[in-house]
Amino acid sequence: MIDEPSALPVAATHDAEIDQLFGVDSPLGHAVGAFRPRQSQTEMAKAIAHAISNQSTLIAEAGTGTGKTFAYLVPALLWGGKVIVSTGTKNLQDQLYLRDIPSVRKALNAPVSVALLKGRANYVCHFHLERTLQNGRLTSRDDVGHLREISRFMKTTSSGDKAELSKVPETASIWNLVTSTRDTCMGAECQYYQDCFVMKARKEAQQADVVVVNHHLFFADVALKDTGVAELLPSANTIIFDEAHQLPDTATLFFGDTISTSQVLELCRDVLAEGLSHARDGADWAATVTPVERAARDLRLTFPQDIVRLAVNQIAPSSTFFPALETLKDQLDNMIAVLQKQAERADTIEQCRVRALELAMRLDAWNKPQTEDVIIGQECVLWVEAYSTSLQLHRTPLSIAPIFNKQREGVPRSWIFTSATLAVKNDFNHYSAQMGLWDEPAQSWPSPFEYGEQGLLYVPTSLPQPNSPEYTDAVIDAALPVIEAAGGGAFLLCTTIRAVNRAAERLREEFERRKLPFPLMVQGEAGRTELLDRFRAAGNAVLIGSQSFWEGVDVRGDALSVVIIDKLPFSPPDDPVLAARIEALERKGLNGFMHHQLPAAIINLKQGAGRLIRDERDKGVLMICDPRLISKPYGKRIWQSLPPFKRTRELAVVQDFFSAIDAAAGMAEQSVHTDQA
Ligand SMILES: Nc1ncnc2c1ncn2[C@@H]1O[C@H](COP(=O)(O)OP(=O)(O)OP(=O)(O)O)[C@@H](O)[C@H]1O
Ligand SMILES: [Mg+2]
Repeated sequence: MIDEPSALPVAATHDAEIDQLFGVDSPLGHAVGAFRPRQSQTEMAKAIAHAISNQSTLIAEAGTGTGKTFAYLVPALLWGGKVIVSTGTKNLQDQLYLRDIPSVRKALNAPVSVALLKGRANYVCHFHLERTLQNGRLTSRDDVGHLREISRFMKTTSSGDKAELSKVPETASIWNLVTSTRDTCMGAECQYYQDCFVMKARKEAQQADVVVVNHHLFFADVALKDTGVAELLPSANTIIFDEAHQLPDTATLFFGDTISTSQVLELCRDVLAEGLSHARDGADWAATVTPVERAARDLRLTFPQDIVRLAVNQIAPSSTFFPALETLKDQLDNMIAVLQKQAERADTIEQCRVRALELAMRLDAWNKPQTEDVIIGQECVLWVEAYSTSLQLHRTPLSIAPIFNKQREGVPRSWIFTSATLAVKNDFNHYSAQMGLWDEPAQSWPSPFEYGEQGLLYVPTSLPQPNSPEYTDAVIDAALPVIEAAGGGAFLLCTTIRAVNRAAERLREEFERRKLPFPLMVQGEAGRTELLDRFRAAGNAVLIGSQSFWEGVDVRGDALSVVIIDKLPFSPPDDPVLAARIEALERKGLNGFMHHQLPAAIINLKQGAGRLIRDERDKGVLMICDPRLISKPYGKRIWQSLPPFKRTRELAVVQDFFSAIDAAAGMAEQSVHTDQA
């Protein structure tokens, strides 16, 4: 095993080669139709090549649609050595692995091996599948059908990746029963260890030159050392984060800790099952687990409301929450004592004992100051989140900068952070400070597009306040004539799932009533990749989606010519971590809204807007429905941060914009016919 990155060739300048690779007659021309040299893309590729050769860090921003993917893949595949590319979502991973990397590899004729690594919950587990097939405690018809599909899939798949089985939806409940968790994996003891898909994916990742991961996996690993990234890191020469603006949030999620009462209940379920099958006479198992289960449920019930998020200091000291937490700890300890005595009877019981012990330790640690935190001066927010049937206890660091900075210490290697939205008006401070990248070079390249010519920003008049109950209906009323004028080809991006559902209902009715032929696609109906493929193929479809469609999605050409955004994407104000961060800023005399919430919303909005123009010939309308863009003093700051679209508040201007496109297309077609004649 290699523990140190192998030395890369002495820093050379690759500028000439890059000029050629991104110039006219680029070999990448075969990968995309109509490749054109883009200065920003070429310059960005050079800067990344320098950082890679010098094993240094670079923060690289270039507008949406610039072609950042090629700008980092080309130098990475040619000179990156062992490369880890981490991106925002599993879908973007698939896109890189199935589409972008193969095209670049082919164009460059680069002899690199590539592997895809996802979190363990993505791979079918032989052991758990077998167990589920045998004891078959399935509660729904869907489960039975899905299980049959999965068994069939196992005969042909070589990866075991659930993304390959589109017949079973990603969110189907059966997946929980046929995948492993860190807690329930038997590791090397497992009888299927040799065939294990998780192990196979990790082994392939070990051996590959380029490994594609996602941010969740990357940071979960840094925190838990369980996802296979930790063993890749030591030998990596180059680490590239695409969609790097997401890192502060993702890292925050993982550098903290979350304990859920449902974890406790799952443990109880397993203790009962394993106890009864391997040590029936050893203890009264039902009497062992019942008090723990009751304590976990009672803890949830200390918050009568349905869904709440509260910081610990918002919970009254007299609340029953605190004694209930103590009871849970005590009951868990009692169960551990029983497990201790029976652990020798079976590996699975021993495994339950370890799990129980770890849970008890984390529960204990949850509201005690941590020595580690004191050492690095780390401030944490403690908060609870109640769902309908479970309660989660979170411990979240206020800043991830010190922890992440520590991760980057040690062996020199290149770290590339790229995204369309890292700076606010060319100032990278907000990002660098959050990530602890204080003295690292940051650069921004202008967009290659003529937004004033190619795009129009339309803010309709007379929409109600965004919190009014009829808001989504008003958005649809305002959007319909725009969709009609465009002849379909629209994304409707919503800030909440509820709005997605309401919008879908309304649009379906209206399309039917007005006899509009636009295929309607709604997030959740099918996997994201499949929806996007259908969307591209249809050419005149309307797609309604929430957050996961705001970023990274690339649809070039006429298939997408309208992006409609329902509301300014501010984070929900009841988020205790957000509240604590704002409070920390205000203690420093800064305005939390201006310094945190507004820049975060602007970044989000720029990502959404960035789906529209992906090419020098793309044209389209960005419609932002939220009246606050005009009425609030901060609105100006927002639209000034968007690309320099032409702006209007009149529907007629939008309609003219599309008529002009149609007329131009008509002319072009005519000239083709004349040429051919
Ligand atoms: N030089 C080029 N000429 C023409 N098309 C290109 C060129 N470079 C990349 N493309 C294509 O442009 C589209 C946008 O590229 P890409 O998805 O890499 O953008 P991006 O900069 O990552 O944007 P985002 O920030 O929105 O993810 C893709 O379809 C890509 O294949
Ligand atoms: Mg991109």
